[in-house]
Amino acid sequence: MGRTIRIFDTTLRDGEQSPGCSMNLSEKIEVAKQLEALRVDIIEAGFAVASPGDAAAIAAIAGIVKDSTVCSLSRCDEHDIDAAWESIKHANSARIHTFIATSPVHMQYKLKMTPDEVVASAAHHVSYAKKYCSDVEFSAEDSCRSDLDFLCRVFEAAIKAGATTLNIPDTVGYMIPQEYAARIRYLREHTLGIENVVLSCHMHNDLGMAVANSLAGVEAGIDQIECTINGIGERAGNASMEECVMALHTRRDIFGIECNIDTRQIYRASRMIQTITGVGVAPTKPIVGANAFAHEAGIHQHGVLSNKETYEIMTPESVGIPKNAIVLGKHSGRHAFEDRLRELGYTLDRDAINSAFEKFKVLADKKKVIKDRDLEALIGAVPVTGEERYALDNFVINSGNTITSTAVIRLKKGDKDTAERVAAYNGPIEAAYRAINKIVGRDIALRDYSLKAITDGQDSQAEAIVKIEIDPGELVTGRGVSTDVIEASIKAYINGINKYFKD
Ligand code: KIV
Ligand code: ZN
Repeated sequence: MGRTIRIFDTTLRDGEQSPGCSMNLSEKIEVAKQLEALRVDIIEAGFAVASPGDAAAIAAIAGIVKDSTVCSLSRCDEHDIDAAWESIKHANSARIHTFIATSPVHMQYKLKMTPDEVVASAAHHVSYAKKYCSDVEFSAEDSCRSDLDFLCRVFEAAIKAGATTLNIPDTVGYMIPQEYAARIRYLREHTLGIENVVLSCHMHNDLGMAVANSLAGVEAGIDQIECTINGIGERAGNASMEECVMALHTRRDIFGIECNIDTRQIYRASRMIQTITGVGVAPTKPIVGANAFAHEAGIHQHGVLSNKETYEIMTPESVGIPKNAIVLGKHSGRHAFEDRLRELGYTLDRDAINSAFEKFKVLADKKKVIKDRDLEALIGAVPVTGEERYALDNFVINSGNTITSTAVIRLKKGDKDTAERVAAYNGPIEAAYRAINKIVGRDIALRDYSLKAITDGQDSQAEAIVKIEIDPGELVTGRGVSTDVIEASIKAYINGINKYFKD
């Protein structure tokens, strides 16, 4: 057996902090559970000092996750490290991840510190973190634009202070693969004690090379890859977990490297992140894009029908894309329904199954053939927890190209109350949203809206995703599904409002 690479997932930290990808508490918990099902080695659950909400989410994840190490980020600052430890102290296995920038531009303009002060700060804060936790990762932010000999100095100081993992991030996505590999080799040859610590890469994708750079790092001696599901993250994103893992897996012949990931959980993780954040992936995205395993051209189809290996280097099943063996419909029973959900990777409790089955029957009355994507949409990637504050009771829309659209919306509030309001506007969706704003009593702004068909065919369900702003600067994502596009849009808006009130 070859070397084993650790997978450090930062979807809930570097991914979540990027614009449009924020998640609420229950969503973060669902993602953490899925990361554990993927058998991720380390889950970076957030940046505890960033907000009380972040700290609470990390603590909740630390209390639930059993098999993966749970990590919190902190700057080289005692207060940050206190907050990080407070949030992870109950984890089965905990890690503090502390960082300071080491490039000339960051030291001079951001930190306003001299290189000597940066070395001293790294050493002091690693040993401060060490008082709490034996597992301490140290990152040299913007390391790829840092002087190599200076990096060796900083890393030696961090190792002496007790760091167990050293991270060499490409914070601005500047590297090309050979160059990154050369830097890793240089650091390995010139840093005292480096053979006793785990080396980590954390690549951003500004030049589209985050995955290639991670793999070059692995060949040069990196032991841990930091990555995110679907590659979400600051600017152009981080290295994508599914691409790194499947490259290592598919080209074992070249890398000779193992990792602990259960690749069959990849597709589900990808769908979950798309649904929760409302940030979809391109159809051509490797591994998880809609076309990744589709063979359109006749010549390709012919080849694949004769032997899949003609055009497939990995199987859809190996990343958890289920075989479309059974198509469900009106006459399908509960057993077939439950079996299919299980095959898709959903293990729901009794109540969730009951409510999903009821929704399934309603949908089956409207739609002849129910495909996997319909089922996923039906149960949602994240089970709704707790009371919904508002639910759609009914709506009437009057719209046309020669009139102002009007919407009458009635919402249920809690168990008993209902409220109805009317609004008029240029289009039917905006009129409906304005009526809902009147019921909720808030001036909610719609910042983003998308609508797409979930499956093909005229009776396809529509999925609406909205991003709404209730508190200034804070976007909440809402999602709604229906065979009626207006209903899907209204449900998405209400879903966003409920999420806001649940946080
Ligand atoms: O990109 C980066 O440098 C980071 C560090 C905090 C590891 O995210
Ligand atoms: Zn980063």
